[in-house]
Amino acid sequence: MNIQLLNKNISDIKSDINIQFLTSNDLESSTYKELLNNAGFTAEQDSICFLHENRTLFCGCEDKTNDNIRSVTASMIKALKKTNYANAKIDILDMDIQSLVEGIVLGDYEYNTYKSAPKSSNLEEIIISSDSNNFQEIQSSFEEALIVANATCFTRDIVNTIPQDLNPETFAILAKKLADDNSLECNVLGETELKSQKMHAMLSVGRASIHDSQLIHLTYKPQNPKKTISLVGKGLTYDSGGLSLKPAASMVTMKMDKAGACAVLGIIKAVSELKLDIEVHVFIGAVENMIGGNAYKPDDVLISRDGKTIEVRNTDAEGRLVLADVLSYAQDTVKADYIFDFATLTGACMVALGQYTTGMMGHSNKLKHSFFQAANDSGELIGSLPFNKHLKKLLKSEIADISNVASKPYGGAITAGMFLDNFIKEENKDKWLHFDIAGSAYTESPWDCNVYGGTGAGVRFMTSFLKTIK
Ligand code: BES
Ligand code: ZN
Ligand code: ZN
Repeated sequence: MNIQLLNKNISDIKSDINIQFLTSNDLESSTYKELLNNAGFTAEQDSICFLHENRTLFCGCEDKTNDNIRSVTASMIKALKKTNYANAKIDILDMDIQSLVEGIVLGDYEYNTYKSAPKSSNLEEIIISSDSNNFQEIQSSFEEALIVANATCFTRDIVNTIPQDLNPETFAILAKKLADDNSLECNVLGETELKSQKMHAMLSVGRASIHDSQLIHLTYKPQNPKKTISLVGKGLTYDSGGLSLKPAASMVTMKMDKAGACAVLGIIKAVSELKLDIEVHVFIGAVENMIGGNAYKPDDVLISRDGKTIEVRNTDAEGRLVLADVLSYAQDTVKADYIFDFATLTGACMVALGQYTTGMMGHSNKLKHSFFQAANDSGELIGSLPFNKHLKKLLKSEIADISNVASKPYGGAITAGMFLDNFIKEENKDKWLHFDIAGSAYTESPWDCNVYGGTGAGVRFMTSFLKTIK
């Protein structure tokens, strides 16, 4: 489906149907008030109503805030695809162009790779019209929003890909292709290199897999970068739990345990297409956590890349082991101004914040504050989970430097974040934030502009933050 922005008056545009956004106040003064009343339309948020004879589709919203526009636009596009209209037009009026684009592109998203006969739709084009004086500004926001929404769909596609097709080795191939397409540098470390890097925490997690673990490093280098950013992603292409095997019901959806890695790929894609003046390094630990005679075990002690020893008490807390080594490698390879990691790290994050909100952890309140703003601007949800010294003590081990799980179950998202903190160098403490996207990265029921499957969590709020960097 195509989406176009035209510098025209809406009445000069021909289309099969016109789309109008109405609040309950707008409804009161609408010329269609009576017809809409008869149809039972009250302009409730996310409701839609067709008046086919009048060639108009009405979208209900509580008010015209960005969140509400994005959400109802996503409902609208799904309804429109079920009709036989080929094109539709929207007068932008005073609505936010980014929210419209996101509602259309992200609400329209479908993942049909494994369907033998996907449902087809007649809808070919949405035309947005604006005859505003600052059309140039609207047009550049439109183009930026399209890049970010498409990068979000790219991330969703990879998250949704099944473990049969996407394993650590094919992940590296996919990353190389992205690098080729977007003129990025790409360096991949296979198991031989990981051994010479002494990345035994990461290697142990992947030992029982038939696929070799891979560390993928992509770089976007503009001419005069204002800042350098490192983005680290958890790329568990499948998490069976290992010998601490997950129960059957919890294992389903664990193809999404690579969503952190998919998010950082989507972000570097967006940054390179937006041509932002920041150098971005992506580091991905692509690993499969399986069972077998050579699997790592609860009771093992692993020597991590930076020398700390880790007692394994649960092989399902594998993401933090992979990230410990990748974070250590990232810090030694690139001197960055900021280091952000993305990971579907804990079920506990969903218990703490609900499934819609990304958990943010780290030391710098100033940096966290910037991300509340970025979340607001982008329409994603972020909640802060605070570290404290009492929880930190729960990671003590009797036989190694640290245990991979806390001795008490409460505050599990925070103790996982504090585990990672052990692998952040002193000089980087205030430059680092950890984002737990366990809940926000995947959904089995639609919400906001998200449909079944990967949501692309992280791509919108991170690009929003990066755009503000001076
Ligand atoms: N990948 C999971 C976390 C997860 C759970 C992500 C549900 C998305 C949905 C992670 O590797 C894991 O299994 N964590 C354990 C940690 C525990 C053993 C301390 C968990 O959350 O139960
Ligand atoms: Zn796990
Ligand atoms: Zn995991």
